[in-house]
Amino acid sequence: MKIGDILITPEQIETRVKALAAEISRDYQTVEQPLIFVGMLKGAFIFMADLVRHITVPTQMDFLILSSYGDATKSSGVVRMLYDLQVDIVNRDVILVEDIVDTGLTLHYISRELELRSPKTLKICSLLSKDECRKIDIEPDYVGFSVPDRFVVGYGLDYAQQYRNLPYIGVLEED
Ligand code: PRP
Repeated sequence: MKIGDILITPEQIETRVKALAAEISRDYQTVEQPLIFVGMLKGAFIFMADLVRHITVPTQMDFLILSSYGDATKSSGVVRMLYDLQVDIVNRDVILVEDIVDTGLTLHYISRELELRSPKTLKICSLLSKDECRKIDIEPDYVGFSVPDRFVVGYGLDYAQQYRNLPYIGVLEED
């Protein structure tokens, strides 16, 4: 496998992440308790780290590990919770941070699961969205970029656990 086209450069990512952080900070200007960012590991770790550094309202952070893909390039559709939140989100403002929404199955599963815990508000922020790939009608509240149905890696996104460290979003191709 090799990296083909670079879809989104580091500079484009930085500009968009700052804009998303500014939008979120505006929307939550009046929060009474710190806004809880929930990062979905592993894919969201770089995006979350960059995003929260530009948030200007009080925050807390926690993480979840779900797995749906294994090492395959297509979703198995089976979502498992491997590591749960440590924080209680009852009556709290929560933003779920994802690297990518593809079929929407992962997001559907986790947002239903978290709504059962009665947060005050629950919104979703995803760096990328493959709009044409949805199998379920669910849209993030904040989206960085819409991307075509190609296998993208970098800036947290992997193929078989590799390529997460690339500073750009690139397309993975067969040799
Ligand atoms: C990826 C990604 C999303 C999910 C999106 O996770 O981080 O959570 O797939 O796909 P869907 O919309 O089709 O459900 P993955 O299971 O690859 O784990 P990772 O975050 O550790 O890379």
